[in-house]
Amino acid sequence: MKKHIKNNVYWVGKVDWELQKFHGYEYSTHKGSTYNSYLIQEEKTVLIDTVWAPFAEEFVKNLDGEIGLNKIDFVIANHGEVDHSGALPALMRRIPDKPVYCTENAVKSLKGQYHQDWNFKVVKTGDKIDIGNGKELIFLEMKMLHWPDSMATYLTRDNILFSNDAFGQHLATEKLFNDLVDQCDLFNESIKYYANILTPFSPVLRKKLGEVTELNLPIDIIATSHGVVWRENPAQIIEKYSQWSNDYQENQVTIVYDTMWNGTKSLAEKIAEGIGLADKDVVVKVCNLSKSDENDLATEVFKSKTAVIGSPTISNSILHSVAGFIHLLKELKFKGKKAAAFGCFGWSGESVKVINELMANAGFEVASEGFRNQWNPDKDALKAAIEFGRKIAGM
Ligand code: FEO
Repeated sequence: MKKHIKNNVYWVGKVDWELQKFHGYEYSTHKGSTYNSYLIQEEKTVLIDTVWAPFAEEFVKNLDGEIGLNKIDFVIANHGEVDHSGALPALMRRIPDKPVYCTENAVKSLKGQYHQDWNFKVVKTGDKIDIGNGKELIFLEMKMLHWPDSMATYLTRDNILFSNDAFGQHLATEKLFNDLVDQCDLFNESIKYYANILTPFSPVLRKKLGEVTELNLPIDIIATSHGVVWRENPAQIIEKYSQWSNDYQENQVTIVYDTMWNGTKSLAEKIAEGIGLADKDVVVKVCNLSKSDENDLATEVFKSKTAVIGSPTISNSILHSVAGFIHLLKELKFKGKKAAAFGCFGWSGESVKVINELMANAGFEVASEGFRNQWNPDKDALKAAIEFGRKIAGM
């Protein structure tokens, strides 16, 4: 069922309430998601993006029922990733000659995925299409935000920016608009989305935000491809992106560890105690990696000024859970953050050295030699862990 957004613009996407994992199993989506597709019905009828492939037939059937597919004059594919282009094959089987407007790189990504030679019309930044009633669509390439093929489309007079992935969140809702949903959910899902998907592209994003500002386009609504449509103060999410893309950090230290027989766990809790004793204002979070969601933890590290990573020594190295998590941090290319390491050991005790090397390689400033403890921590070792925490607070 289409939902009204503004004047002759409608949402025709799909709410995916039960989605729990995205990008295969790489990204947790505790609150589901939406695949937002938009219909503009001016003198020209335009479809912007589609939905993920499992919902293709449902999408095409609904759209046909709403307007009749032959009414569509052309399709805009802002991005070739399958969660937005997945229904194109089913749609284009029904309207094979209709133009598909997209970037040059999207022709490659769409052909590469679907092996179809649709009626592609390549556009670049600044290109415009007249859709009647005094309105135009203006294209804005968003290269590497987050694929080479990404772009946004701007609708004049209604002042709507169809931003595709940028400014989105994985949040299933029937409410559609940002002012109608729980604001904590909205903020938490927005920052998680930024931290886990967009952080590697922060330098590109900063440049693009500057370009968009220079264009001086009035933006009344940001219609993203996931989650809510920003109609109430859309500048708020642009401001957040500006903050998040500038080596973001809060006054927070996050301790992430895994443990075999709870020795390293005991150290984690005492280190947290020491940080709290030394700095009354800092937020300290202690997270057992094996009992937490990695994407939620990556978000906590994104918010932190320091990440303290713990693992016992096993086979002259560290637990693979910790190694995998540091690999995730490296992929995310966080900048301007410090790191420290800790862990228990029985005999050889390499874990702290290994963590330090991996964290340095992941782009963190290793600001301490770390803290090692042989066998289970006794009273003195726990006191030493508190002192180590105090030092971390002062780093
Ligand atoms: Fe890059 Fe939502 O797809």
